[in-house]
Amino acid sequence: MKITMASNKKPKPDFSKLGFGKYFTDHMMVMDYNDGEWGNIEIVPFDCMQMSPATNCLHYAQGIFEGAKAYKTPEGEITSFRLDENFARMNRSASRMCMPNFDVDKVMNGLVELLKFEKDWIPTNEGTSLYIRPTMIATDPMLGVHASHTYKFFIILSPVGAYYANGLKPTKILVEEKYVRASIGGTGEAKCMGNYAASLLASEIAISKGYDQVLWLDAAERKYAEEVGAMNMFFVIDDEVITPELVGSILPGITRKSAIELLRSEGYKVVERRISIDEIAKAYDEGRLKESFGTGTAAVVSPVGVIGYKGRDMIINNNEMGTITNELYTKLTDIQYGRRDDKFDWVIKIN
Ligand code: PLP
Ligand code: COI
Repeated sequence: MKITMASNKKPKPDFSKLGFGKYFTDHMMVMDYNDGEWGNIEIVPFDCMQMSPATNCLHYAQGIFEGAKAYKTPEGEITSFRLDENFARMNRSASRMCMPNFDVDKVMNGLVELLKFEKDWIPTNEGTSLYIRPTMIATDPMLGVHASHTYKFFIILSPVGAYYANGLKPTKILVEEKYVRASIGGTGEAKCMGNYAASLLASEIAISKGYDQVLWLDAAERKYAEEVGAMNMFFVIDDEVITPELVGSILPGITRKSAIELLRSEGYKVVERRISIDEIAKAYDEGRLKESFGTGTAAVVSPVGVIGYKGRDMIINNNEMGTITNELYTKLTDIQYGRRDDKFDWVIKIN
């Protein structure tokens, strides 16, 4: 692996005030696809990338990405969480977007080297981690709409704190009734760039109304709860934990999958099924909607305190983090940060 060291190392930011995705480490991993195959992995200084203004991904959004995290355990070990799942999902996204698959072991080796290199950038303050952003873009400099013949794969690293500015304070979400994020047969289950651009207008409108983000409904009937901008959703009704099933328009979250496994192993009944917004509102009216939370790599486990629907706010659990949400948050982060035995074999040791 070719490694080019950065001539100037950047000063590290204040790890107690990181926010999300604002700072980047000194190096990145790159790999190019030409003539039908991926080339060698290189580690190079983190820098701007030169490209033609006609570059395919800039016009037609043939691009995908992933989100994962690295941690430093109390013993100083560098670890990560279920990276194999991220790279498998990235290859599925690539297939959906007509992009080439890559060798997971090869990319994993490159990432391990990059993480070892940048280990001083892994923050250890409560709730912080080193966010890993693998990205693949189409690089043909041509305006015809076509699947590119050349691609760039890169991984950048960013020390992060909580994704939401309010940390673990419950979020306020608005049910989106006009716009949709994805429909069955579309690209909703791929982690592709255009999905996020398509979601911005509804998010901005929700923010202007005092909400943090939107809860998407299914595109066909505007009836079933799907997911929130950067997280999968869970609703605790009576003694059941319900999460929308993966019907094809929802991102199959790795934190979602982990939450289901973890909660089941703790004896909770977790059901994956379609759940309509009217069923959620009815359960709320009958006092049976006990908790709601979202899961995601960036969002971790985020309590939902308010769901706005048809002009009224449903205030869940007194706008406080519920017991199941809290138990899941604690047990999952204890595994991720190496404070609890990892009986699921999710943690990957880097050094
Ligand atoms: N849904 C969307 C649209 C997302 O962007 C994310 C974040 O990756 C998630 C759900 C949660 O997925 P994961 O738990 O794999 O991070
Ligand atoms: C993640 O949780 O890793 C995401 O990709 C969400 C986001 C910041 C778009």
